[in-house]
Amino acid sequence: TLSRRNIGWVMQRTLSPTVWNILKQAGKLADGMGFKIYAAGGLVRDVLLGQESLDVDLVVEGDGIRLAEELGKAHRARVRQHHKFGTAEVILSEDFKIDVATARVEFYAYPAALPQVESSSLHQDLYRRDFTINAMAVSLNEKKFGDLVDFFDGREDLEQRMVRVLHNLSFVEDPIRILRAVRFEQRYGFKIEPQTLKLLKEAVRQGVLHKVTSERVWEELKHILVEAEAAKMLHRLEELNVWPYVFPDVNYWEVDPVLKELHNAMDLLDQWGQLQPAERWLPYYIAVLHWSEVEVALRVCRKYNLSKRQTEKVQLALEGWREAVAMIWKAPQDVKISQLAKVLLKMPRESYPMLLAILEDSWIKVRFRQLLNIIMDSKPKINGKYIKSLGYRPGPVYREALDALWRERLDGNLRTEEDERQFLRDYLDRVTKGESKC
Ligand code: CTP
Repeated sequence: TLSRRNIGWVMQRTLSPTVWNILKQAGKLADGMGFKIYAAGGLVRDVLLGQESLDVDLVVEGDGIRLAEELGKAHRARVRQHHKFGTAEVILSEDFKIDVATARVEFYAYPAALPQVESSSLHQDLYRRDFTINAMAVSLNEKKFGDLVDFFDGREDLEQRMVRVLHNLSFVEDPIRILRAVRFEQRYGFKIEPQTLKLLKEAVRQGVLHKVTSERVWEELKHILVEAEAAKMLHRLEELNVWPYVFPDVNYWEVDPVLKELHNAMDLLDQWGQLQPAERWLPYYIAVLHWSEVEVALRVCRKYNLSKRQTEKVQLALEGWREAVAMIWKAPQDVKISQLAKVLLKMPRESYPMLLAILEDSWIKVRFRQLLNIIMDSKPKINGKYIKSLGYRPGPVYREALDALWRERLDGNLRTEEDERQFLRDYLDRVTKGESKC
């Protein structure tokens, strides 16, 4: 029926005003230039699922790059062009970019008067995509705004909750789709359609994943590790024998219980105001590797070309977590807060979700929270400036002295700021015997 084929009103209801206005505007611009224009892929899928989407992926029958330039002008946004592919990116902000692709109309293939001609290039563009649920488009031209273009029955598969490839060679042509199939299946609680599952398993058996670069695996893996259902996705990768390609020599079953708890742990830390990971994928990544030998973990880090700082965080987490967990478990009278702080502060923040996930009982979680609060609240107000004012030459002694001060405060030995100054003066005097003075 008409209403099923036009989803304009669902778009208006689900999309943010910003995205909605951009789609409207893109349609008008294309009208003015005589192009046909569509939004495709993830946005259409998510709108039909009743979910918001920031993923604007435009397909232009005409000149996508020119359209992108006009859109860029209207928003004073930077436009990155890839002439070789006829694509462009309109960069509205750091995390809001619009992809524009050109679907070339190949006039020679069909008589120009036939209606198929108009959509043949869109058809080609959509046919190159991974799954039917991702291969729908919606018209944006004013007169047809909201008309659904669904060549491969994607809407039916969405309703049946199925992830289905468009053709038999899909996983062989792009093995990354093996990971993507798992991601969409678990994100939405769908099933990989039986024939698709057969093709997927066959592709895995043939070792097609050896043919993709680690860069591309990493790109997709990062997407998985920031998903709410990351644990389920990783479990599914194990089930489908994909895990060994992704995390070679890492034993899935050793980390399974911690992975399953990690999302809750991150939620808790977030509620406590203690979660600010710079890289959102890192907590899961650390949890995946925490039972492994350091050499195995470092090999994985090298495979995915992690930075020196990221690798260091992984290593510190692996070296520190057993001691940290053991200490948190100790009765308060048996361990000094400063000792605990020393161990915890050596570990990266991104490893705290894993620590919390390992601490199963709720009372020990409460204790962990108290410890974090105490540690974070007791950061001394006195800093290097004071040491400098005492006439000491800047050097490693600053850090050592301030750490010693922090520990002393944590153990409750210093009451006033004057106590702290006194402590620092004594400490510096003792360790430097005056030789570091300017
Ligand atoms: N695509 C594909 N094969 C890949 C990667 C992407 O066919 N290996 C297609 C998909 O059909 C997808 C589109 O390119 O709709 C855009 O990809 P991407 O933005 O990565 O996917 P989304 O579907 O938008 O997923 P997400 O919601 O995770 O952003």
